[in-house]
Amino acid sequence: MTVPFLQIRNIHKTYGNVVAVKDVTLDIAKGEFITFLGPSGSGKSSTLYALAGLQEPTSGDILLHGRTLLDTPSHKRNIGMVFQRYTLFPHLSVGENVAFPLRVRRRPKAEIQETVRRVLKLVRLEGFEDRMPAKMSGGQQQRVALARALAYDPPVLLMDEPLSALDKKLREEIQLEIRRIHRETGVTILYVTHDQDEALRLSDRIAVFSKGVIDQVGTGAELYANPASRFVAEFIGDSDFLKGRVEAIDGRHADIRIAGDVVVQSVPVHGDPAHGGEVSVMLRPEHISLSQVPSAEGSLPVTVIDITFLGNNTHVLTETSSHEKLSVRLPFGHAAVNDLQRGQAAWVSWDSSMATAFCG
Ligand SMILES: Nc1ncnc2c1ncn2[C@@H]1O[C@H](COP(=O)(O)OP(=O)(O)O)[C@@H](O)[C@H]1O
Ligand SMILES: [Mg+2]
Repeated sequence: MTVPFLQIRNIHKTYGNVVAVKDVTLDIAKGEFITFLGPSGSGKSSTLYALAGLQEPTSGDILLHGRTLLDTPSHKRNIGMVFQRYTLFPHLSVGENVAFPLRVRRRPKAEIQETVRRVLKLVRLEGFEDRMPAKMSGGQQQRVALARALAYDPPVLLMDEPLSALDKKLREEIQLEIRRIHRETGVTILYVTHDQDEALRLSDRIAVFSKGVIDQVGTGAELYANPASRFVAEFIGDSDFLKGRVEAIDGRHADIRIAGDVVVQSVPVHGDPAHGGEVSVMLRPEHISLSQVPSAEGSLPVTVIDITFLGNNTHVLTETSSHEKLSVRLPFGHAAVNDLQRGQAAWVSWDSSMATAFCG
């Protein structure tokens, strides 16, 4: 069996009484772009810092090519790092900033010059060598920080919310640049963000963090289609939850009675469903159809609460007879939107394979 490129093994991190990371284990392939996604305080940075050597984990191990990194000091780990705040040396020019890690490594002068030119070109800042950081925008400064992190060709690049201080347009522009740089260099990237859109745009795989543990790891499509927990379902994509009761079980699928009186058949269930047990049924607004007349068997009667035109789609907020909110998203021009009025009765339905139930 080949040894995984990078292994995070049973990492624990505590700060006094605070348990920041609990038993995080993850294998990362060479060249992969993996994102730690989760709310603030969920342990993303603490895990990343253990990799960088900026903070020792309380227990656990980090292995690169099968060898522990923990006995190597931070500056000798050869891991590139870009942080949220601009961390350029203010008294050094752009060229000197980028050259810094190479000077520390005592590379020959000609090679340093050549590398500085090459990585500045990579981040699209050719000719900026003599500029001082204070004379640059936030986005440009982050590009310089990225160039500096790439200058010594690290096998692994860590990025901790590098774009969160930038406005949306600039953020999206640099996201594209980061994707391109990842493709062109083949560097393995571990990226931290609390922004699901950013995680979906950038990553090969996403590890969803919650309260110091990884809830689920997978591609964006896997997490969206098959969330393993209610937390993941809420964090990736939009979702609503209806309370229900299990009527019949067949392996991992159940027939579930929801909203008073409607039984939905053969819904995939996470956890250990018991006959008569309570579950929450997750539905995504884009998977629900809406009709102004009762349609096929199994459609759920609702009241229309609000209708919001959003350009390429219309958001219809409805309420079930058991007073649970259920959002429906209809594409622009959809016939069901015509003449739809607030307060009117309507019927919603969905393909049961598009629902997911969670126990409890
Ligand atoms: N240096 C520190 N001292 C004490 N507590 C810390 C320190 N760094 C992080 N924490 C705590 O550890 C938990 C995880 O923090 P962190 O890893 O920074 O999460 P995230 O990056 O997901 O926001 C939080 O409860 C945070 O308050
Ligand atoms: Mg953080």
